Amino acid sequence: MRIAMIGTGYVGLVSGACFSEFGTEVVCVDKDSSKIERLHRNEIPIYEPGLDDLVARNVEAGRLSFTTDLKAAVKDADAVFIAVGTPTRRGGGHADLSYVYAAAREIAEAIEGYTVIVTKSTVPVGTGREVERVIRETRPDADFDVVSNPEFLREGSAIEDFMRPDRVVIGAETDRSREAMRQLYRALFLIETPIMFTSLETSELTKYAANTFLAMKITFINEIADLCEKVGANVHDVAKGIGLDGRIGKKFLHPGPGYGGSCFPKDTMALVQTAQDVGAPLRIIETVVDINAKRKRQMADRIIAFAGGDVAGKTIAVLGLTFKPNTDDMRDSPSLDIVPALQAAGATVRAFDPEGMHEAARLLPGVVYCKDAYEAMDGADVAALVTEWNQFRNLNLAKVKALLKEPALIDLRNVYSPQDMAAAGFRYESIGRPV
Ligand code: UGA
Repeated sequence: MRIAMIGTGYVGLVSGACFSEFGTEVVCVDKDSSKIERLHRNEIPIYEPGLDDLVARNVEAGRLSFTTDLKAAVKDADAVFIAVGTPTRRGGGHADLSYVYAAAREIAEAIEGYTVIVTKSTVPVGTGREVERVIRETRPDADFDVVSNPEFLREGSAIEDFMRPDRVVIGAETDRSREAMRQLYRALFLIETPIMFTSLETSELTKYAANTFLAMKITFINEIADLCEKVGANVHDVAKGIGLDGRIGKKFLHPGPGYGGSCFPKDTMALVQTAQDVGAPLRIIETVVDINAKRKRQMADRIIAFAGGDVAGKTIAVLGLTFKPNTDDMRDSPSLDIVPALQAAGATVRAFDPEGMHEAARLLPGVVYCKDAYEAMDGADVAALVTEWNQFRNLNLAKVKALLKEPALIDLRNVYSPQDMAAAGFRYESIGRPV
């Protein structure tokens, strides 16, 4: 089988490379010719561990290629995946589907023979049906089926998530399209991955329900963490104590500065909108969205309080800017709320992030960007650990102590143990744990 993958963003590039690794011939298409040129030179536009090797190996084997020529790629494809962006529309939480429908129109003009059109981007319920209508309207004679196949990849472990997923969800409503999807995922059938076939709407909603549930789980533990601080309990023990109950599960119960990234903030808002539009409001998710937005802002207040309440003229070292480690993604990162609030309160921010500084420099002006964590802490009043990159887990505390004006660290990711920090002579604050 041959696949055309439309969109070489995060989802398209990872999925395309992984399908080619399964042995399928994949052509990745993007309008952005500079991106395609870079990919031809094996320069990967995003930071994702292992992706460069995977791409190089499959290009070398002749299974993976890149082009700007959508028509040629689609003409020869048995399956066309739509993996273009679905940003939040201006002035509301709705997802902007203009790229999806534009791609559908272009695909419609180019398909030859029976083709499965698969929506891989996260799209609101009803989009697959609309893609079907758009294609039919553009090419009434076309022989095709529309399928929904959401991805559940996490940035930073996307390849592993694709190769060994907990499940694959496929909204496919005809035997022909189900058979084509079975072929594409045959490698996962062999390792007995649960593969669910559903209707288009069920598949589309499953993706949103998964992400909003996870966002809710994080928000729950964040609020429990705040409560722990008030009553002197330890949030990690509470998380373990509840997580060992198989009905709750241990994962996604790590407290922090609020969820960020390209998915949870956007998807929670989009589902809230969809639910309101159809008159079945998801009040619990509306609350989650509200709590999380406030939490990110509150984190700046916490850092300010930790630095003595008045940070005018003080310097704060910020360690980590991306929304989580192992990515260069700054989208909806808590640092985008925290850093400007610290600056507005009069502080100078010195920051370091292993992969995110290029993007951060664009989004966070006025920050002193440093070459490593130690340079960021040099002469700062206090340090705030905002993203749990591995290299921040083993800082040389004696060195940190010598660099900071006061040995004081506020740890928004609970990387260090309060006991160890006390023993090392630090004033230390974390989330949801007794000091
Ligand atoms: C998320 C989902 O985990 C993927 O399954 C999904 O495919 C993806 O969105 C998507 O829709 O494309 P991702 O955004 O890459 O993946 O990142 P996560 O690892 O899920 O983290 C999201 C946010 O939650 C981060 O800000 C992280 O710091 C935070 N988080 C996560 C916590 O604060 N606590 C936790 O216990 C887990």
